Amino acid sequence: MSLLDVGVYGLGVMGEAFALNLERRGLGVAVYNRTVERTRQFIQGRARGRKIQGFTEVRDFVNSLSRPRTIILFVKAGKPVDDVIEGLVGMLDRGDVLLDCGNSHYKDSDRRFTELASKGIRFLGVGVSGGEEGALRGPSMMFGGDYSAYAEAESTIGRAAAVFEDSRCVGYFGEGGGGHFVKIIHNGIEYAIMEAIAEAYDFLTRGLGLSSGEAGEVFEEWGRGELRSFLVEAASKVARHIDSETGRPLVELIVDEAEQKGTGRWAVEAALELGVSAPTIAAAVDQRTLTTLRSLRRIGPMPERIEGVRNGEAVEAARDALWATTLLSYLQGMGILDAGARTYGFKVAEALRVWRAGCIIRSKIVEELYRELSNAPGEPLAVSLKSNLYGLEESMSGWLRFISLASTLKIPTPAVMSALSYYLSLRAEKLPANLIQAIRDYFGGHMFKRVDREGYHHSDWGRRLE
Ligand code: 6PG
Repeated sequence: MSLLDVGVYGLGVMGEAFALNLERRGLGVAVYNRTVERTRQFIQGRARGRKIQGFTEVRDFVNSLSRPRTIILFVKAGKPVDDVIEGLVGMLDRGDVLLDCGNSHYKDSDRRFTELASKGIRFLGVGVSGGEEGALRGPSMMFGGDYSAYAEAESTIGRAAAVFEDSRCVGYFGEGGGGHFVKIIHNGIEYAIMEAIAEAYDFLTRGLGLSSGEAGEVFEEWGRGELRSFLVEAASKVARHIDSETGRPLVELIVDEAEQKGTGRWAVEAALELGVSAPTIAAAVDQRTLTTLRSLRRIGPMPERIEGVRNGEAVEAARDALWATTLLSYLQGMGILDAGARTYGFKVAEALRVWRAGCIIRSKIVEELYRELSNAPGEPLAVSLKSNLYGLEESMSGWLRFISLASTLKIPTPAVMSALSYYLSLRAEKLPANLIQAIRDYFGGHMFKRVDREGYHHSDWGRRLE
């Protein structure tokens, strides 16, 4: 029996799709799943007639691979990944490569990289984005870990990735958990954009009285312009989808509680730890949590229509608000990336490059941000803000109008509002932080800097403490 090129461990939705993708790119694939039945179903079903071989024993799976072996894990993040690695490690040889393609926390990947390196195993933590379709046809792949393993994987496994204008959406983001760090920030941005789209949907339907289908048409229209993106396109499709059993829009039959697996929260935690402001990402995570408090959501009346507002004008305002919020969500994510890049040693532009196709947050805005950043290198947030100042100022009146109308209609818009105050703070020549510094000094003697003198100062603020 000839040896196979690569092993896929874990046949969930992503594992199966990626195994099929790898095989289509000319690789011989070994697959293993903890439950034997799943492997059998896959081999007899979608993998039938392909160069994909299933194994029921881990040892046989490992031994079926050519050396150095390459094993890709598609296992639930957290302890399951550690358990699988522990089970595999004794069967591997020095130089073999383990790739974790799940949504693992980057700190876990830092740890696994070091632990496995001490055993001679080359570890790669890989952020894979694009959902099932991406895994099958071409995801965006963010690698971190052992560089020599990356260099090899880039030309083999990398063939399975999405391509944007001849450039493969595969990148290396430093040792340890660099790849997973970039993926976690990707997901934070994903949360923020989805929340902003949901706020626009709420405004269009509950606020302006459009049907879900009509909102879907508005999204489709927006998706042809500056808001062209996978997520707006997804929104346009799901909003128009009719449930075949009831004949009603399926989206209206879905319980309005958003779930989350934790990657958005990790992005916010990373922002807090690194001292970066990312209020829209935080608002999106927070709002998902808030939606689960359904029993408390029965107090206020439904929004009323506002007289004298033309739907056309309000829809345009919503579009401007969504564009500005989306752009600023990317900018906040880029701010976190930039801080993390100092630890992992990568370029923010490189993340934008691999996000141009395959991933969930691919969009016209990403393409433009990448272009801007590669043409004018500098501090990413400053460069992007400068390049987009005109657009942000232009969208301001619609953005404010959207917030004002939505608030009048009692429709919450935390993402759009947070993006506005983020932007207003960045463009303000003066902020009232001087008062905060004064009060800190008043009650705690924390000292303050003065505009007219060097150094730190303290005042007794006219009080005499005995
Ligand atoms: C992707 C997605 C993918 C997954 C999220 C969903 O890039 O392909 O981000 O990784 O859809 O993990 O996360 P939640 O379940 O937390 O929404």
